[in-house]
Amino acid sequence: MRKIFLDSAESTNDVARAFGEKGERDAVVVAREQRKGRGRNGRSWFSDAGGLYSSFILEKKKSLPFIAAISAAKTVERCMDEAGLSGVDVEVKWPNDIMVMEKKVCGILCEGYRDFDIAGIGINVNNKVSLECATSIKEITGKELAIDEVLDFLVSNIEKTLLSPEEEIIKEYKKRCKMLGKRVKVKLEEGSIEGIAGIDEGGYLLVNGLRISVAEAIRVEQ
Ligand code: BTN
Repeated sequence: MRKIFLDSAESTNDVARAFGEKGERDAVVVAREQRKGRGRNGRSWFSDAGGLYSSFILEKKKSLPFIAAISAAKTVERCMDEAGLSGVDVEVKWPNDIMVMEKKVCGILCEGYRDFDIAGIGINVNNKVSLECATSIKEITGKELAIDEVLDFLVSNIEKTLLSPEEEIIKEYKKRCKMLGKRVKVKLEEGSIEGIAGIDEGGYLLVNGLRISVAEAIRVEQ
C-alpha cells in the first residue's frame, strides 16, 4: 500500500478522491491534521494534530464498510495493548463507529465513486476530544502512541482483511457488533424507529422488519 503523507488537508477523503480520479489504487492519504474533516450525514470530524486521519483508495468492494470497521477495531485493540491496557472490549457500533467503554474513538466514512472506493478512517489517538460521547486512546490509557506506528497497524489490518473471504468478513463484523440482538432506537430523516437490531448480509440494519441503509440512519442509540 502506497502511503501519501500531508501536513494538513481540508479532508483526506477529498485528496484521496483526486488521487483516485487519476488512477491511484491501493494507496492511503494521511494528514497530520484536517481543516474540514468530514463525518457521516454532513457532520464534521474534529481533526486536531494528534489523531490519525487516513483515507484508503481501493478497488470497489461491497463489503468495504465492514472491512474498514474490522480493521479499525483491530487497530484500536492493538493500540490499547501497546498503551498497556489489554483485554479491553473494542466494539463496533453499526454501521462503523468504533467504541471503547461506550465512547467513540474512531469513525469511518466510506464513499464510492465510479470505479474506486474511499474508506476514510479517523482514530482519536493522542488528541484531546471535547465531546461527551467520544474519547481518545490517550484519554483512556494516559499513554501517547506514535501515529506512524498506529498507521502501520491499520494498513496491515486493512491489507489482511481485504484478503478474507466475504463470509468471514460478515461473520467477524457480526461478532464485533455487540448491539445486534439488543433494543435500539434509530433516528431517521423523518421520525425514528425502535426495536431489536439485526443485520442482513448486505450490511443493512434490520429493525422491526425495516431494512435501514447507512445513508438513512442519522443516529443509532442503544
Ligand atoms: C463519522 O463517524 O461520522 C465518520 C468520521 C470519519 C472521519 C475520517 S478522518 C479521515 C477521513 N477524512 C475525512 O474528512 N473524514 C474521514
